[in-house]
Amino acid sequence: MILEEIMKRKDIPTDVREEIQKSVSARILSGKGLKDSERRGIAECRKVDQRLLDSEEKFRSYVENAPDGIFVANSQGEYIDVNPAACNLLGYTKKELLGLSIMDVTAPGSRDAALSEFGKLAKEKKVNGEYLFRHADGHEFYMSVDAVKLSGDKFLGFCKDITKRKHSEEMLERSHKDLEKSLYSTVDALASTVEAKDLYNGRHQRRVAHLAAAIASEMEYSSDRVRLVRTAAIVHDLGKIHIPSEILSKPGKLSDIEYALIKTHVQASYDILKNIDFPWPIADIVYQHHERIDGSGYPRGLKGSQTLAEAKIISVADVVEAMSSHRPYRAALGVDKALDELQMNRGILYDAKVVDSCIKLFKEKDFHFDLELPVK
Ligand SMILES: [Fe+2]
Repeated sequence: MILEEIMKRKDIPTDVREEIQKSVSARILSGKGLKDSERRGIAECRKVDQRLLDSEEKFRSYVENAPDGIFVANSQGEYIDVNPAACNLLGYTKKELLGLSIMDVTAPGSRDAALSEFGKLAKEKKVNGEYLFRHADGHEFYMSVDAVKLSGDKFLGFCKDITKRKHSEEMLERSHKDLEKSLYSTVDALASTVEAKDLYNGRHQRRVAHLAAAIASEMEYSSDRVRLVRTAAIVHDLGKIHIPSEILSKPGKLSDIEYALIKTHVQASYDILKNIDFPWPIADIVYQHHERIDGSGYPRGLKGSQTLAEAKIISVADVVEAMSSHRPYRAALGVDKALDELQMNRGILYDAKVVDSCIKLFKEKDFHFDLELPVK
């Protein structure tokens, strides 16, 4: 402390001050002429210095040998320190990388996103995500980055190459989409089979699918679930291909035996669909589309919560479409009559929420079937 004060005094000539400093330093280094307590103090300081040096070296070796890239950047996104792994990941030497910024190594198509993420990092003090980078040799690859804001407008980041994982995810997604596409084609082919046999029933299924999907959307189902409802609805009467055409298009009233035969279409639909390995419960939904909330439906007389939500939607769409359309045995009753039927049996035969959504579609959202039925 005394030495520091002496060194600051301008009234002592510079050469005298330097001489004093030299003499004190020499005494400290040699230890000669120092009191025991001073010697002990100096030895303690040296130990502390050594411990600090050891600790710094230890942590530096952790950073240098870390398998993940570690970097420190300034507020402009310019690299101010990088470890060897970060250099390897990006394909630059440390000297080269310290002359670049994060934006320079981000893939051109991702720079806007990277800029906005960097802004978020400055504001929220931490950010993590998966970003597309450009290697020194020009190829693009994905890295996961976790970064935090340090004091003094510096940012510390950890990055890892995740290209392999990204590629596997993309391949998995592609194959999932291909599988979905082929399953939808299968369902569409099945619907066409019904259409080929009986145009009325074929188009009935497509119109029910249109309304059922609209109800599901109105009920704020996810897009995947809306697609499930549409897919199940488009084949809900598939089993009718087993019913003789004369009965399906019989102009008069059906006998009890004929009606009983028609009711078997639900089991027949289920039997066909259960053998297709859908990732969704299409067969079960179709199996339940004639069930009613009070248990008066068929084939199993299921009540309220025993029936799948998707089946409840299809049952309402089925009734509305059937009543509002012309049938071989009667003229069209019209949409208003169909909606009256829903209102009258809301919560009794049909799910109340489904009924409300369906009525809202027709009365407030001007719903129209997108496919006209053929006129016989
Ligand atoms: Fe049916």
